[in-house]
Amino acid sequence: MTERIQTLVAVDAGVDRHELQSALPDDSGIDIIGIVEGLDESWQTLQEISPSIVVVACAGYSDRALYFIDSAVKQDRQRPVVVLTVGSPNGFVRRVFESGADDIVTLPELPDRVAFTLMKVLARRQGAAIASGVALGAMVCVLGPKGGTGKTLIATNLAAALASQGEHAVVVDLDLQFGDVGLALGLRPDKTIYDLARSGGSLDAEKLAAYLVEHSSGAKALLAPTRPDQAGAVGVDFLRDVFAHLRTMADFVIVDTPPGFTPEVIAAIDTSSHVCMIGMLDSLSLKNTKLGLETLDLMGYDQSRIAIVLNRADSRVGITHEDVDAIIGRAPSIFVPSDRQIPISINDGEPIVLAEERTDAARSFRALAEYYIAQRGETESSPEPETADAKSRRRFAWR
Ligand SMILES: Nc1ncnc2c1ncn2[C@@H]1O[C@H](COP(=O)(O)OP(=O)(O)OP(=O)(O)O)[C@@H](O)[C@H]1O
Ligand SMILES: [Mg+2]
Repeated sequence: MTERIQTLVAVDAGVDRHELQSALPDDSGIDIIGIVEGLDESWQTLQEISPSIVVVACAGYSDRALYFIDSAVKQDRQRPVVVLTVGSPNGFVRRVFESGADDIVTLPELPDRVAFTLMKVLARRQGAAIASGVALGAMVCVLGPKGGTGKTLIATNLAAALASQGEHAVVVDLDLQFGDVGLALGLRPDKTIYDLARSGGSLDAEKLAAYLVEHSSGAKALLAPTRPDQAGAVGVDFLRDVFAHLRTMADFVIVDTPPGFTPEVIAAIDTSSHVCMIGMLDSLSLKNTKLGLETLDLMGYDQSRIAIVLNRADSRVGITHEDVDAIIGRAPSIFVPSDRQIPISINDGEPIVLAEERTDAARSFRALAEYYIAQRGETESSPEPETADAKSRRRFAWR
């Protein structure tokens, strides 16, 4: 059975009940367990029941609503709050987010869009969620705070390794200015994330699928813009939407990132179910890996969902694996050796995991794929194993 989203709607004074009612989802995996008039009354109700999400409806700027959001967030930081408002007067949207709300929807809006927002914020909070009968695929955000650590190498080989094990994998190139996933996979950038962002209109799985480029392994890619000046067209809210949709389509969404914690990278981390942190055997890179792990800790990212991959792990540079454990505070899960076939495979646009199957490097990428396949089962937020039905719905969206 699929977990449904238990939703309490707290209604501030002045809200047009008819308009509110016509925006509320009546199915789509959402159960409205209460619509309470008045925020004091809603607060009382909130003490008595435990919804998985709180919706606050208000008619424009409302200090009462801001106070309510703030209190609801402080009461339970894991439970998302979404605001439905008629119009969004100056400064209100910012205050809503400052109060700790997860999202804001301006009415009138279609019930499906509201339902989608609710699912999205819940997925963002939980890392992985079951919603509307579709079990979300895992999303692995590949990070390496320092440039050139092997993020693109690892993201592309992981996607190819997953695809060759029968998983539907899509790799997103979030290095919006200088992305080279297309080069590493030998794909022509006939369509990119820039074209998708510029296409206008709302996003859905079918439309998104049309902008993915397929690799011979079966993995698909959402490629970076072809020119750095196009990166500005790809906004953070749009990206959150893209990630949320991709997770309903693919078994694995692998995100290759630029160095550093840019707003786009933070959005990807937020939406992800797992982080793959890449370090290299040099003290500068390891220092940055440690800083990256500390940043994830500050963001409240669950440490058990972070894997460390040590790249160029066999380099003889005077740093032992024990030193690595001591510097970054934990042991890497996977070691990728240096291999001169790696730059060759990147130049050829053919991931080494497929091109040179017998190398230790290829073995390490297969091990990484197996690691995530095993992890998915262990950390899915659903208490139940994934159903064949949920998987088949993703497969439908994939085609
Ligand atoms: N294990 C390895 N053995 C040999 N060469 C490697 C290895 N790992 C990475 N390289 C080489 O290092 C270079 C940088 O790798 P890659 O592009 O994957 O790093 P990146 O972290 O994505 O860089 P950027 O931060 O610039 O996006 C590539 O040319 C790649 O061929
Ligand atoms: Mg890169």
